[in-house]
Amino acid sequence: MEIVLSDKSYEIIVKRHALDTVGEWIASLWQNKKIAIISDEHVFPLYGEKIQQQLANYEVCHYTVPAGESSKSLEMANNLYDFLADQQFTRSDAIIALGGGVVGDLASFVASTYMRGIAFVQIPTSLLAQVDSSIGGKTAVNSSKAKNMIGTFAQPDGVLIDPETLNTLPELRVREGIAEIIKCGAISDASLWNDLEKLTGIQDLLAHSEAIILKALEVKKTVVEEDEFDNGSRLLLNFGHTIGHAIENTAGYGKISHGEAVAIGMVKISQTAEKKNLSPAGITNKIKAMNQKYQLPITYQPWEAEKFYTAITHDKKARGSSLNIILLAEIGKAYIKKIKLTEIKEFLLEGE
Ligand SMILES: NC(=O)c1ccc[n+]([C@@H]2O[C@H](COP(=O)([O-])OP(=O)(O)OC[C@H]3O[C@@H](n4cnc5c(N)ncnc54)[C@H](O)[C@@H]3O)[C@@H](O)[C@H]2O)c1
Ligand SMILES: [Zn+2]
Repeated sequence: MEIVLSDKSYEIIVKRHALDTVGEWIASLWQNKKIAIISDEHVFPLYGEKIQQQLANYEVCHYTVPAGESSKSLEMANNLYDFLADQQFTRSDAIIALGGGVVGDLASFVASTYMRGIAFVQIPTSLLAQVDSSIGGKTAVNSSKAKNMIGTFAQPDGVLIDPETLNTLPELRVREGIAEIIKCGAISDASLWNDLEKLTGIQDLLAHSEAIILKALEVKKTVVEEDEFDNGSRLLLNFGHTIGHAIENTAGYGKISHGEAVAIGMVKISQTAEKKNLSPAGITNKIKAMNQKYQLPITYQPWEAEKFYTAITHDKKARGSSLNIILLAEIGKAYIKKIKLTEIKEFLLEGE
C-alpha cells in the first residue's frame, strides 16, 4: 500500500513474516547509513536480534527505553539525542522505530528533530500501532501539562508491518487495537464492519489479521491523504474519542485503557444521537454487539456526567464555545457535527 502526500510518498508493507526479510527492505531504502534501532524493554528482546542479524552490512546500534507512556518525554528524547551524538550520527544516518505507539511516537519525534531531521522507518509491533499510530506522520512526546503536547509532522521512509508480532502481544493490547479497527469500520468501511461481524472473536480476527489490518489502514490512509495536517476530515478518526478521552482522563491511571474508553465513547455518543434522530435507529445496538464480541466494554461505572463534562471542556479539541463531534450517518459513514459546548451534556447524561 502506498501513502501519497504533498511532498513525499512511501510504502506500507503488511505481510506475515515480513520481519524475516527486513534486511532486503532496508537495503531497498537506505545505503551507507548508520542505523539506530530504538525500541522498548519488551519488544527489543523479542525482535531486536532478528533485525540486527539482517543488517550486517550496516553499522547498527540500539537504544532500549522502559516500556510505557512515561518514556514519551522530552527527557527521554534528550537521552536519545545524546546517544545519537555519542554514536556520531550525522544527518545522513537513520533510525528504525521498533515497538508500539510509544516507541513510534518517541523515535519519530527524535528522528524528525535530531540535526533538523534524519531518516526513519517504522516497524510497529502492537495492533494499535499497526492500524493507527504508525501512519499519519504525527510524532509526539508528552509535556508535564498534557499528552502529545510537543511534536512534529514527519513522514517515515516506509512502514513494515508483520502481523506475526501480535502473537506475543498481551490480549489487553490486542483489544485496544481492535477498538480502533471497529471505529474505522464504523466511520468509513461497511465491508470491514461486515468482516468484523462475521469473525467469531479475537482469535479469529488474529487468524485474519493481515486482511483486517490492511482494511483498517486503508481507512486511515484515505483520511490522512485528504488531510495531512489535521485541519479537517481527519477529525472523523475521533469517533468515540471525545467521551472516550473524558473517561480516560477522569478514571485515574491504569483504570481503563484508551481502547476500552473509545469503545464506550462510540456507544454513548451514538445512543443520544439515535434519540435525537442524528443517527439511524438500531445503530447503538450494533456497536454494543460488536464491542461485546471483541470483549470490549459498553459502559463504565460509576458514570459521572459532571466530571466528564468538565474534562471535555478542558480538552484541547474544545475550541471556543462549540465542539465538533463525530456521529454515524450509517455503518460505514460518519459526519462532523458542530454542537454548543453545553449540548455535549445531553450526550453525557444519557449514560446515567
Ligand atoms: N501518532 C499517532 O498518530 C498516534 C495515534 C494513536 C496513538 N498514539 C500513541 O500511541 C501510544 C499507544 O501505543 P500502544 O498502545 O502501542 O502502546 P505501547 O507502545 O506502550 O505498547 C503497549 C505495550 O505492548 C508492548 N508491546 C508492543 N508490541 C509488542 C509485541 N509485539 N509483543 C509483546 N509486547 C509488545 C509494549 O512494550 C508495551 O508494554 C500512545 O502514546 C498514543 O498517544 C499515537
Ligand atoms: Zn484512539
